[in-house]
Amino acid sequence: MRVLVLTGAGVSAESGIPTFRGKDGYWRNLDPARLATPEAFTRDPKLVWEWYRERRHRIRNAQPNAAHEAIARLGQHADEFLLVTQNVDDLHARAGLLKEKMVQIHGDIFVTRCSRCEFERHEYEQEQEHGLPKCPECHALVRPGVVWFGEQLSRNELERVENFLNGGACDVVIVAGTTATFGYIIDWALRGSRDGAELIEVNPEETPLSQFATRLFREAAAIALPRLVNQLLTKPTA
Ligand code: OAD
Repeated sequence: MRVLVLTGAGVSAESGIPTFRGKDGYWRNLDPARLATPEAFTRDPKLVWEWYRERRHRIRNAQPNAAHEAIARLGQHADEFLLVTQNVDDLHARAGLLKEKMVQIHGDIFVTRCSRCEFERHEYEQEQEHGLPKCPECHALVRPGVVWFGEQLSRNELERVENFLNGGACDVVIVAGTTATFGYIIDWALRGSRDGAELIEVNPEETPLSQFATRLFREAAAIALPRLVNQLLTKPTA
């Protein structure tokens, strides 16, 4: 079985991580779509860092939920598998999914990188810094290692997605917990399912991908995914 899974913020919602859109997405009355931009960082880097530090803190204290665990199990048992997640949290990895089976297409919130040079580090521990951290090498401001609106996706990670899509037809494509706002998410879901693969959507709400889905689960990911993965692993596709 060759499986592609695409996830978004809805998969981590039941771990207590707010999604981006919708009423729970706002932070101090600010719209994340305006905070997660290079312009916001240039205008008020302190504010942007406060938002990311709070999110890092919340993610460190969160636990993977049944949706992350089901995806990790599928990743372990499928013959060929790739997860492309828009989530910058580490909950898929903490549920046991190997890094080589996963692409974090919008980056990793625990990476801090320089806004000017190539320096980057991984913040395994709670960082002590307050205020504005600087690059130890060139003294420019450092920033979270995530992709902001209007920025390019990592070429390396894009290549990993392309290699998987070009590597053969999928049997199953699962899209869970994302509004599928970005064209490339829709494109990958459709390309992955082009040769008659099942396209399964897990989302309580309708999205632009719903019309193409061969199966819809209008349920929370932590409810639907364990059931779906059990079905897939006990009933091999023809
Ligand atoms: P959104 O916040 O746009 O969407 C969350 C989706 O999850 C919605 O479609 C909800 O209906 C659905 N949802 C909510 N609770 C759910 C649950 N318990 N189970 C399943 N689904 C649930 O998040 P994303 O689609 O991930 O990018 O957003 C995409 C990107 O836009 C993010 O990666 C981020 C954001 O701005 C950047 O920062 C570049």
